[in-house]
Amino acid sequence: MCKTNQLMRFKISTVGILLALVCIKAPEATASEVNIYSHRQPYLIKPFLKEFTQQTGIKTNVVFASKGLVQRLQSEGAASPADVVLTVDIGRLKQYADKDLFASFNSKILASAIPQHLRSKDNTWFGFSKRSRIIAVSKSLEHSDQISRFEDLTNIKWKGKICSRPGSHVYNRALLSSIIAAVGKEEALKWAEGLVANFARSPQGNDRSQVKAIFSGECSIALINHYYYGKLKNSKDPTHREWAESVQIIIPNQEKNDRGAHVNISGGGIAKHSKNLTEAKKFMEFLVSKKAQSLYASINYEYPVVDGIALPSTLTAWGKFKEDSVPIGLLAELSGESQKIIDTVSW
Ligand SMILES: [Fe+2]
Repeated sequence: MCKTNQLMRFKISTVGILLALVCIKAPEATASEVNIYSHRQPYLIKPFLKEFTQQTGIKTNVVFASKGLVQRLQSEGAASPADVVLTVDIGRLKQYADKDLFASFNSKILASAIPQHLRSKDNTWFGFSKRSRIIAVSKSLEHSDQISRFEDLTNIKWKGKICSRPGSHVYNRALLSSIIAAVGKEEALKWAEGLVANFARSPQGNDRSQVKAIFSGECSIALINHYYYGKLKNSKDPTHREWAESVQIIIPNQEKNDRGAHVNISGGGIAKHSKNLTEAKKFMEFLVSKKAQSLYASINYEYPVVDGIALPSTLTAWGKFKEDSVPIGLLAELSGESQKIIDTVSW
């Protein structure tokens, strides 16, 4: 009888412990998610989310928008469900930082993986991939070997030959900031004047359409982000492949004593009012993992920020290039000066 009672008590307490474990475990399972606000397009980000969930079991919920997420985050305030923000270009990261929408986040993993000049000093934003602004030149342009630097584009020889998207686009504004950082405001103004004086048409379109304009003979030289060439070259659309086939790529400012090609970042930060901080940190740290870094290269031809990641053949074909290592945060600080110059020269 006594033995039966003891057995019953053991069974009850074992069930109790198991129930307690289930009760402790259950809320954690439902809370294991991370909410992401993304300016990056779904097809670019979904492979990352799938891999992250497979590795961690953490569910991801994403709000995609090309515009308006800064305002949305701001108006939501402390009630915002956002945990992580992903975007491209330091100009856009700065908008979040300036409005104090990022939490400061100390992570040894991020600090050791991301070079110092590609993340903020106060640990609010971090670069996860690199994109270089390069020069696309028509294969039929004579004397194209005379272009090896951004500075060469002001040569009067190229009058009526250059196409560009508007200067106020963040990609061009950051490029101009890198030139201010390298040679000062006055020289940067002269450069912008010389560039605009050589335009074949008024600034218009996006980076892809500049390559199209070279293909159709409207101009012979254009500034583009390097990954657009990779996308066009490997496009399923034969028309796009024809555009890419009509140009050669020049990675500028590569000489021994030169500063290197201008580089910008895609990046992100943790939202100031994140309610899933542990998951948000895990996601940010996942983005510098070997797997995630190689996805940046294989999905969108972007360069990893972490050294030693295998690159797709489109990128290795260009060889290793020297990049301008000016702190990316300085480019954001100079964006106001750049915009003044852009307005002055009507770029
Ligand atoms: Fe882009």
